[in-house]
Amino acid sequence: MSDKPKRIGILTAGGDCPGLNAAIRGVGKTAIVEHGMEVIGFTAGFSGLINKEFVMLDESRLSGILTLGGTILGTSREKPFKMTEGDQNDKPALIKKHYAELGLDCLVCIGGNGTMKTALHLQREGLNVIGIPKTIDNDVFGTDETFGFDSAVGIATEAIDRLHTTANSHQRAMVIEVMGHNAGWIALYAGMAGGGDIILIPEIDYTIGSVCKKIEKRFEKKKPYSIVVVAEGIKLPKKNVTAGQFIAENIQLFTGIETRETRLGYIQRGGSPSPMDRILATRYGAGAAELIAQGEFGKMIALKGGELTSIPLEEVGGKLRLVAPDHNLVIKARNLGISFGDD
Ligand code: F6P
Repeated sequence: MSDKPKRIGILTAGGDCPGLNAAIRGVGKTAIVEHGMEVIGFTAGFSGLINKEFVMLDESRLSGILTLGGTILGTSREKPFKMTEGDQNDKPALIKKHYAELGLDCLVCIGGNGTMKTALHLQREGLNVIGIPKTIDNDVFGTDETFGFDSAVGIATEAIDRLHTTANSHQRAMVIEVMGHNAGWIALYAGMAGGGDIILIPEIDYTIGSVCKKIEKRFEKKKPYSIVVVAEGIKLPKKNVTAGQFIAENIQLFTGIETRETRLGYIQRGGSPSPMDRILATRYGAGAAELIAQGEFGKMIALKGGELTSIPLEEVGGKLRLVAPDHNLVIKARNLGISFGDD
C-alpha cells in the first residue's frame, strides 16, 4: 500500500439494525470529505465481496440516509470461512482476489460478533480490516455499547407501556418476549424502563415456581395484573416452543390466572434509529475512517466509559458480552422488588 489509503470498501453483515446507514454515512463522508478517499459499498454483506457486487458511494449517495432504517447496502448471514454443503468456491480466495482487483486499501466490516470473527480471519489472511460493532443485542465483546440497541430498547419499552393498560383492564398476566439472542440486555433495559414485574434473562436461571409465586403474591396484594419480560434466549426444557409461549403457558397452568403472550420480533430491528443510535453510529463511522487514515488496521472501533477507542480484533473474535448476574441494574431492580425468577 502506498502512504495514504486511497480506496476503501464497506459492507454490512449479519442481522440488520437501526443505525447501519448512519454508520455507512459516517465512514463514507469522513473518508471522502476529510481524507479524499474513494469509497465502495459491497452489497449483501460478504456475498458482495465474494461475487464482486458493489456500488460506488459518493457524497450524493451518502446524503439523506442518516435517518433511514435497514441498510442501503443490504446484508446477509454469509460466513465465508464456514464451508456449507454445495460450496464449490474457495470464498476466502475470491475475497482476496476481488479486494486486490478493486485496489482496496482497507475493508470496513459493520456487524456483530460473527462479523468480527470473519473480519479477524480476513485480517489474518493479509487484508487491512476495520470492524464497527452493531446489533440490537448489545452483545459484542470489547465495547460498552453497540448501535441498534438503544432503538430496540425504545421500541420494546413502548410495547411494554402499551401492555400495561390492557393487562390492567383485563386483570391478566402479560408475557412479552423480546430479542437479544443469548444475551439479556434488551429484556433487562426495556424491562426496567417499562416497569416489568418479572424479567427473565439467559444469564440468570429461573424456575417456573418462582415466577408463579411472584405473580400470585401480586394478586394477593390486590395488584390486578403482572408484566413479565422474557428474553428469547432463556433456557427452555422443551423444543418447538418459544420462550414467551413456554412462560405464558406455565403461568396460566400453575396459577390459573388468565395469561397472554406477545412476541415483539423483528419490529425491534426495523425503522428509523433513535437519536442516540444515530450519534453512536456516526461516531463509530467517523472514528473508523480516522483509524484507516492513520493506518491502524485489525481493530474494532469501540466505546469505553463514553469515550471512543479501539480494540484489536484479535481480542474481540469469538467472545460474547453478556449481562453479569450482579450487574448494577440487576441489583437495583431486585431492590425495587422486581423478580428475575430465581428467588
Ligand atoms: O442478532 C440480532 C437478532 O435480531 C437476534 O436478536 C435474533 O435472535 C436474531 O438476530 C434473528 O436472526 P434472523 O435475522 O436470522 O432471523
